[in-house]
Amino acid sequence: MEKDILKVLVSEEQIQARIREMGAEISREYEGKDPVVLGVLKGVVMFYADMMKHITVPCQMDFMCLSSYKGTKSSGNMIVKQDMSVDVAGRHVLILEDIYDTGRSLQYTYNHLLSKNPASIKICTLLDKPERRIEGITLQPDWTGFTIPNEFVVGYGLDFNEHYRNLPYVGVLKPEAYEKYAITQRS
Ligand code: IMP
Ligand code: MG
Repeated sequence: MEKDILKVLVSEEQIQARIREMGAEISREYEGKDPVVLGVLKGVVMFYADMMKHITVPCQMDFMCLSSYKGTKSSGNMIVKQDMSVDVAGRHVLILEDIYDTGRSLQYTYNHLLSKNPASIKICTLLDKPERRIEGITLQPDWTGFTIPNEFVVGYGLDFNEHYRNLPYVGVLKPEAYEKYAITQRS
């Protein structure tokens, strides 16, 4: 295990098993619908790549890049760093997310998509931290990998100041690791 990790919250085996289950359900749901699978970068990269291998129906890939996080605190300000490239008007869209935290980014993504008039929007999130939800956000994911307690997690795509995304599991950092990659400002 990576030395900066205090504890593993969701193991690689648990993640992969749950992705297989959800992939089978998603494949049944989208039979004959040729969905556009939208990944919200960058946190979703690992989940997206693994999930796509278990979606067995014809589909298209697309990505959006939002940004709102600086360190461990959400600023609440959303920036579209990169928009989708597929025209989703009249299409079935499945949003894949790394984590449903305060809900700001998922709500923003959802509203952004709605304005493009898709036939349907469904949501699959690997992690859900319901205790962190802010008032007024009522979206319910159609698939949730794991519901986790209110702890800051890293790994499997999730970062602390852009580090630890490459871990194959989801874990909690040791307090001293926060010092190590503490930064004041980056693009
Ligand atoms: P939101 O607060 O639900 O809008 O989540 C915004 C983004 O913050 C997520 O897509 C993640 O990239 C990031 N995020 C939320 N919680 C965590 C965490 O525990 N660890 C690392 N990144 C997180
Ligand atoms: Mg994200």
